[in-house]
Amino acid sequence: MFNLIERINKLKKEKNAIILAHSYQNIEIDKVADFVGDSLYLSQKAKETNADIIVFAGVYFMAQTAKIISPEKKVLLPNLHAGCLMADMINLNQAIEFKKNHPNIPMVCYINSTAEVKSVCDICCTSSNAVEIVKSLNSNKVLFIPDKNLGKYVETQLDDVEVITYNGCCPVHDNVTEQNIIDARKKYPKAKILIHPECLTEVTLLGDYVGSTSGIIDYVKNSPEKQFVIVTEKGVADRLRRDYPEKEFFLISENMLCESMKLTTLEEILNSLENEVNEVMLDEEVRKLSSSCIERMLKVSK
Ligand code: 13P
Ligand code: SF4
Repeated sequence: MFNLIERINKLKKEKNAIILAHSYQNIEIDKVADFVGDSLYLSQKAKETNADIIVFAGVYFMAQTAKIISPEKKVLLPNLHAGCLMADMINLNQAIEFKKNHPNIPMVCYINSTAEVKSVCDICCTSSNAVEIVKSLNSNKVLFIPDKNLGKYVETQLDDVEVITYNGCCPVHDNVTEQNIIDARKKYPKAKILIHPECLTEVTLLGDYVGSTSGIIDYVKNSPEKQFVIVTEKGVADRLRRDYPEKEFFLISENMLCESMKLTTLEEILNSLENEVNEVMLDEEVRKLSSSCIERMLKVSK
């Protein structure tokens, strides 16, 4: 592994490349990553960087987002099979149909969606800024695609805003039940329960904190507490255990694993960077339209 890491780091320098990694990635990826974090943080880094090449250790929509906002850069996805189950739940026609059925209402799309879907939406959001983005629209009705859970969570956080949601979800998070949380409270009475908003709304309402992957990590960083139940993908718990060995972390379920996120390996990162393969490409018209949707979000969420 050491040799692999050295070769990747050497290539990064030679090619003026950076590696962005999501917090759900296999933890060894952090050894070569320049930035590790949530979707918002990584898209901000993709926009800011002066690198010529971005290797995205994440899933397809994340690499595509980097390409949308940094079209002059070469964006590589080390494993092209790394998709997102939620992003696959809505296509362009379904997004258009949803909008047509609810005329004259602004449509927000979660970043976990394709460029085509983003191209017909008014503004994008991530799990860390969804409430802020919906609020910024100053509308008492908002369409939210594709995640029904994040959309409904936003509704609980705002007065007088109806959030009309599309019926998509992340199966990894949607499977967590209220009973799981009730059982965790009994089993770990001293622990704080930290929940990702892709979980069912009734589940999020039982948590001590609800936030994005980076939000959960920051909560632990700033908390004097010693025990935490983590209600999101396993990669977050892995990183917390590594970074805070003096604290205890309990994963709500060992099934909280995003298989797509775990596809990327150090060998594939090396291969994509060395041979500059698996480049993310986009139709320019779609890119421009989806870019306005993301840029509007980045203006609100600095
Ligand atoms: P974050 O924005 O919290 O990184 O979430 C992305 C994601 O896909 C969660 O399942
Ligand atoms: Fe998509 Fe769910 Fe995986 Fe996140 S955890 S990338 S929403 S499938």
